[in-house]
Order: sequence, then structure tokens, then C-alpha cells
Amino acid sequence: MAMYGMAASDRIFSFLNEEEPALKTETLEGTDIELKQVCFSYDGKRSVLKDVDIRIPEGSFIGIAGESGSGKSTIASLIMGRNTAASGSLTIGGRDIGTISEDSLLRSITYVGFGSVFFKGTVRENLLLADRNASDERLWKVLSDCALEDYLKSEKGLDTQLLENAANLSGGQKQRLALARALLCDSPVYIFDEATSNIDIESEETVLEQILKLAESRTVIMISHRLANLAGADWIYVMDGGRVAESGSHRELLDRGGVYARLWRTQQALESYGREAV
Ligand SMILES: Nc1ncnc2c1ncn2[C@@H]1O[C@H](COP(=O)(O)OP(=O)(O)OP(=O)(O)O)[C@@H](O)[C@H]1O
Ligand SMILES: [Mg+2]
Repeated sequence: MAMYGMAASDRIFSFLNEEEPALKTETLEGTDIELKQVCFSYDGKRSVLKDVDIRIPEGSFIGIAGESGSGKSTIASLIMGRNTAASGSLTIGGRDIGTISEDSLLRSITYVGFGSVFFKGTVRENLLLADRNASDERLWKVLSDCALEDYLKSEKGLDTQLLENAANLSGGQKQRLALARALLCDSPVYIFDEATSNIDIESEETVLEQILKLAESRTVIMISHRLANLAGADWIYVMDGGRVAESGSHRELLDRGGVYARLWRTQQALESYGREAV
């Protein structure tokens, strides 16, 4: 018993000796995002991001491309403050992200991934999580922008019941509902992480259309395997093995003939093969 007690107290003391994290009290003023020489590892051994330099000016539309496992979602998690870079600097609006309050970050950055969380309850209750004060009229506006109006009107409108994680909706409907909820957040920065993957083509088009509309007035960071979705971005960063392999506009990257151009050719060939087969 004494041995267990000693081991436990060792752990308690090492916990008490941990350095206090700096107080996160600053609020964001401005949303220029800048990563400089950022390195990151989940386990302290294998590095997942290596010397990453990314600049996301306020109001820009930035694409992040790259193969699976290249570090795209990890970059998103750092920008949202869910993980902390091991070295390098990450600033938002000129302030170190480590000093910005969680509340301010959550208000300023909306993340839409694949497989968003919904709770058992009505569509209205789930949407109001994004904006407690939204009127029914506003809810219907975002639902109609996301092509959900007809479906919900054929059910019980805003009182339509959702099962946990919206299991009673199709994948495409669920993703459109996630987008509708994100639109209600009305934040200056949006991150879409594979938000159009694995859904039907009509839903993909609706979601993409809304993202492009949003990009006219907000900062949009779009992470996508499908390069055609990124073609309209102001600037695209191509990740490869945790590094930024290249960056530029869609045109420039194609002309360069590197990783991006190779991925593009492969995808185009696959998609046209798919069309011919139909
Ligand atoms: N929570 C985690 N714990 C440990 N390792 C992780 C974690 N999340 C991701 N990784 C590892 O970090 C690397 C980068 O992952 P990340 O999710 O950023 O890739 P990605 O480019 O978003 O890939 P995908 O296109 O498949 O979504 C991968 O090797 C992955 O195994
Ligand atoms: Mg990912």
C-alpha cells in the first residue's frame, strides 16, 4: 500500500510542478492568420508538421491540398487552438494564439468537418446552438440556402425530430444541415475540412456554392482532396509529408508541373474515366 501511495504522490507532485499555462485573456482584433516555421507532433516523437509557413490574410480564400495524412487537418486544429505548436509561431490578428481566449477563438472561427455532431432533438434546437437569438425566419433562410427547405417542409418543419447525430438524415442532408448551422454562426473565419466529401453530387454542389458565396465576404480556408473544389481559391498550399511542398494559384501550380499538377492530372483522368463509363 505504501508503495502505491508513494507512486501516486510522485505523480501528484510532478503535476503540481507543471508550469502554469499563460493566461488566455486577449480577444481577437483582426483575423490575419500567420504560421511561421511551425512544427508539431502529437506524441513528441514523430513530427507531423515541419517548418510550415502559411499566410491567410483577412478575407482571403485559401485552399489546402495534399494526400491523406499530409497534415491538413492538423493545421486546422492548430488554428482553432485545439493543439499547440511545438515550435514556430502562430498569430491571429498579430497576437500569439496562446494568449487569445477560447471564447474569442470560438466566436471568430467556425469549423465544418465531415461528420458534424448533432443532438437528439428538433432541427430548431440544433440550429439555435449556433445562434441562440436567431428568428425562425433566419433559420428558414439558411435552410433554404442549403437546399433543405423542401425536405423539412415535407416533414415537420423546424420541429422535425433528429435522432442522435442526425442518424435519420442522409449523409448529404446531414452535411447541408451542418453548413446551415455554420452559416448561422456568422463568424469572420470559416474552415471547411473535407466538407464536401462522400456526399451526393447535388449536395456537394449546394455546399460548394455556399462556400464560394461565403468566400466573397469572409476568410475561407478550404481543405479538400478534390482539387477541382480549390481551383477558385486565391492561394493554394500543397502539403506533402507535413511540409508545404508548394503554393500558388491554381494556374501557377499547374504550370509548375509539381505535386499539385500531378495530383490534378490523376484526378482529371479518373473523373473523365468515370463520366465515359456512364
Ligand atoms: N489525434 C492524433 N493523434 C496522433 N496522431 C494523429 C492524430 N491526428 C492525426 N495524426 C497523425 O498526424 C498525421 C497527419 O494527420 P492529419 O489528420 O493532419 O492528415 P490529413 O492531411 O488531414 O489527412 P486526411 O486527408 O486523411 O484527412 C497522420 O500521420 C496522422 O496519423
Ligand atoms: Mg484531414
